[in-house]
Amino acid sequence: MPSNALPPGPKGTLLAGNLREFVAHGLDFYAGLAREYGDLASFRFGPFRRVFLANHPDLIEQVLVTDAKHYVKHFGVRNYMPVLGNGLVTSDGDFWLRQRRLSQPAFLKHRVASYAPVMAELTRAMLDRWRPGMAVHVHTEFGQLTSAIALKTLFGLDDPGDRAAFVEWLRTAFQLLTGRFRKLVNLPLWVPTPDNVRIRRAVRHLHRVVDGFIAAGRARKEPGDDLLSRLVAARDDDGSRMTEAQIRDEAMSLYLAGHQTTALTLTWSWYLLATHPDAERRLVEEWARVLGGRPPTTDDLAHLPYTDAVLAEAMRLYPPAYLTGREATKDLELGGYRVRKGYTVFMSQWVTHRDPRYFGPDPDAFRPERWLDGLAKRLPKYAYFPFGGGPRVCIGNTFASMEGAILLATVGQRYRFTVDPGEVGTNPQITLLPSNGIPATLQER
Ligand code: HEM
Repeated sequence: MPSNALPPGPKGTLLAGNLREFVAHGLDFYAGLAREYGDLASFRFGPFRRVFLANHPDLIEQVLVTDAKHYVKHFGVRNYMPVLGNGLVTSDGDFWLRQRRLSQPAFLKHRVASYAPVMAELTRAMLDRWRPGMAVHVHTEFGQLTSAIALKTLFGLDDPGDRAAFVEWLRTAFQLLTGRFRKLVNLPLWVPTPDNVRIRRAVRHLHRVVDGFIAAGRARKEPGDDLLSRLVAARDDDGSRMTEAQIRDEAMSLYLAGHQTTALTLTWSWYLLATHPDAERRLVEEWARVLGGRPPTTDDLAHLPYTDAVLAEAMRLYPPAYLTGREATKDLELGGYRVRKGYTVFMSQWVTHRDPRYFGPDPDAFRPERWLDGLAKRLPKYAYFPFGGGPRVCIGNTFASMEGAILLATVGQRYRFTVDPGEVGTNPQITLLPSNGIPATLQER
């Protein structure tokens, strides 16, 4: 019988619970809970929202895999629904399953492999624009590149129109929505507070842009073989089609999930490489040996183990998705405790990926070599889970891994980055951003 007591955790205040510590300490809040309370901790957001933090791979597996059907996405994800809508990332139940089935074919291995030439071509276009000595923000450059790749591969579109404005609206919307997550009381979005008005304005602009993607897709004479064309053409068993709003939600979710995360993996990789010259040297040697100066193809990827190891190690230390959560739909057991219906269970890649039990003795060190001797096979399955797991595992993981390796090797054979001196911190929003975008100078190799 599970215990009716709560797992150990910080006391918190009557009204706010532990919200204040969370706002003050960000990622360290979760890391501190794990350090102090162990494999399963409990805390409260506000007066009623009970949250568990699961810090052991077996507990994580139980939530994401074994008991997956009794959990849904959590309140933090729902918080972003004004932007993401009811798409693959945010939806649940039968609705989610239908959308997942519909989208899955676009992510099969051979289909993903067919996107490689587009990735290489758009990367070359970026490199042709770059000049030695140019000052860049690493995050901005890779955000633009992965955005162009997502638009082309998922929607068959060349980067349309005013991307800068779109990015700005997106930043505003996410920042304001993340802000809501940190407050004790939030008025519904229809109440015209200054922040709510800004959120709604940003969402209107974003929707208009995505509607433009869809209209451009529809206007093509030949329906494309891309995901958007599939969604537009898809019919349910009863012959019904997806509504415009559904297509827009799906397009928005895939576009956002599909480029921000990969841009971050590359951004953090370049930051780590710029600050670890030995690892960078080894990487360049691998490229010289295997590629000899030519751009990589999908056939090369199996022969670039150190490239893979660098990406794996960057996602270990700076996981783009740093927190995954679920809400129980009925009373359940976890680690000997009772998870009541409506409770949230968080699992943090940021915390588990730096756990000395699995990555010791120096878990904060950037050492890609640790992945070269079969570590992935030796680890408990959910000690490392940058792409989540179970039925809701990232649908784009093959896409992301291929894109990461192709972009790293294509860029890295021509340029390296000298990161400007100064503190580089983390800015945990919906994904794990670098606090300053990583300003750097381009050096030709
Ligand atoms: C390094 C890059 C990426 C990382 C770290 C990442 C991480 C994740 C994680 C952790 C989840 C599970 C969230 C949860 O369980 O609550 C997820 C789901 C998802 N990802 Fe990714 N992702 C990446 C790239 C991509 C790409 C390239 C695409 C699409 C092209 C994509 C599309 C999605 C979608 C649609 C979901 C929701 C799947 C579902 O619930 O059925 N992701 N991702």
